[in-house]
Amino acid sequence: MLEFLQAAEEAARRGGHVLRAWSSKFTVREKSRSNLVTEADFAAQQAIHDFLRGRYPHHGFHGEEGLNEVRPDSPYRWIIDPLDGTTNYVHGFPYFAVSIGMEYEGRLVVGAIFDPTRDEMFLAAQGGGATLNRRPLRRSDVTELSQAMVVASLPVATSPDDVAVKRFLKMLPHAQTVQRTGSAALNLAYVAAGRLDGFWSTSLKPWDMAAGVVLVEETGGSVTRLDGGPFDVNQPNLLATNGSGIHQELMHHFAERI
Ligand code: IPD
Ligand code: CA
Ligand code: CA
Repeated sequence: MLEFLQAAEEAARRGGHVLRAWSSKFTVREKSRSNLVTEADFAAQQAIHDFLRGRYPHHGFHGEEGLNEVRPDSPYRWIIDPLDGTTNYVHGFPYFAVSIGMEYEGRLVVGAIFDPTRDEMFLAAQGGGATLNRRPLRRSDVTELSQAMVVASLPVATSPDDVAVKRFLKMLPHAQTVQRTGSAALNLAYVAAGRLDGFWSTSLKPWDMAAGVVLVEETGGSVTRLDGGPFDVNQPNLLATNGSGIHQELMHHFAERI
């Protein structure tokens, strides 16, 4: 597993290098309303893919920018978001990251999330713990929602009657604060690092979550669906917390009528 973790780290650094290199010269295209993409997204994915495919030519690859190499004979699949937080990147809001997860036989086992702005490398491998720049990560010890900083990812193009927005509003009086940041991958890394106490979304893709889920689980946090059912990276339904009673409190409020 260590070998794969080191490969994920090197790939994430290469991706981050590309994001930095493009930061003053990219142009922006709207894939759909409010869903942005730049040359940096494609160039970072290319750099990550080239490196990993060079090492592991028989593995499967799944990346946000049109990358889908299915390898039915391989138990390994890399799940890549070359730039999570493109809207932040475009506006110069420094909260975006490269996210690289790896599945073995359908289980998420390796995660690397790299924040090139702060030079922070979050790494985790199943059974091996989680680190930030080589130091062990610790989840927060906040146990009550009323004392918690929680965060939600809303759909990119949303509206006041979207159920995700209603759920967000409903949580405001229960938590100490509720944030929306623009990078699901960093949110998960921050739950693992104890900088956030909980995170939920019902609109994410596998590449937003794959790496971060390994990080949260390796610090002893909880990752489920919003209703407490088992998390599935192929379904857009994620609740990740520090594993305290906050998890049950959030589930309880999600179960109430909106
Ligand atoms: C987005 C971010 C955001 C989430 C969106 C994602 P992108 O990823 O993770 O936090 O709310 O749903 O699409 O498009 O910047 O890679
Ligand atoms: Ca993303
Ligand atoms: Ca992306």
